[in-house]
Formats: sequence, structure tokens, C-alpha cells
Amino acid sequence: MHALTELPGDKTTAYAELGKSLRALLAGERDLVANAANFTALLYWSLRGLNWAGFYLVEPSRGDLLLGPFQGKPACVRIPIGRGVCGTAAARRETVVVPDVHAFPGHIACDSASNSEIVVPVLRGDRLIGVLDLDSPVHARFDAEDAAGLERLVRVFVESLGE
Ligand code: SME
Repeated sequence: MHALTELPGDKTTAYAELGKSLRALLAGERDLVANAANFTALLYWSLRGLNWAGFYLVEPSRGDLLLGPFQGKPACVRIPIGRGVCGTAAARRETVVVPDVHAFPGHIACDSASNSEIVVPVLRGDRLIGVLDLDSPVHARFDAEDAAGLERLVRVFVESLGE
């Protein structure tokens, strides 16, 4: 069982620590669902002020995003590419930081407690395989440091899957 340690307050150090924990947690396993599940559990139980952390994975046959491993309340199952914060990040292949979800046109409300959100695209080589979505009840919980830190963690996750 992986032990969670208290993260330091400054985000740079916290994400560096999370990177080490994630590498240790995923070492020796290449399964997408297992590694995505443990990745979301690590984030949800380590980062402060989250009410949801999870994946939406691209379903190639339908071309939309399908709910994957997550921690938090039950959520919307399918999100078309281009819709909501998740679909926007997937379409742009760029991290989207939303300080106030109520001001984001087309935001899909899964948990009414959410006030801010960050969505990071997950690319395996040139192929988009999904997005990582974090929600918070705290307004403006996420910033550029979270974006950079989470993008690095997503790269560790993708590397764990192998070629
Ligand atoms: N808010 C997201 C939907 C997913 S939930 O937050 C878990 C969106 O607008 O795409």
C-alpha cells in the first residue's frame, strides 16, 4: 500500500514530490485503467481543495470523451469533443484553466459544488487519448503552476504506459 505524505505548501515543491510519488506508484505496471485509477487517487488525496479528480478517455469509435477512472461524486458519462471544459481542452489539445466555471460558456456542471476547474489533455505521441480533469469548490483554485505541474505528472503517467 502506498503511503501518502503531507505535501509542502509551495506548489513547485509539492508537484516535484508528487512526481516522485507517481513514479513509485506506477512503476512496473503498464495498464491504462489501473495506472489512471491510482493517478487520480494520488491527486485527489494529496492536493488540497479538490472535490473531483478523474479522466475522460477518448472513445475512438464514437469520437467523444467517455468517463474513466476518477475520485469524487458520480459524473457525466459522455462529453463530445469541443463541449464543456473537457471537450474544449481535448479539441485545443491545450490545458484549460477556469477560475470560475459559472463564467465559462458551455461548462458542464456535474457536481454543483465545483467553482473552478483545470483540464489537461493526455497525449500519447501525437494521439489524444483523453483528458485529466480536476474540480474544486474553491474559486480560482488552479493557476499556471498547477498547469505546468499537472502537465509534467501527465507525462509521467503516459510514460508508464510504455510504447
Ligand atoms: N465540468 C466538466 C465536466 C466534467 S465534471 O466536471 C467531472 C466540463 O465542463 O467539461
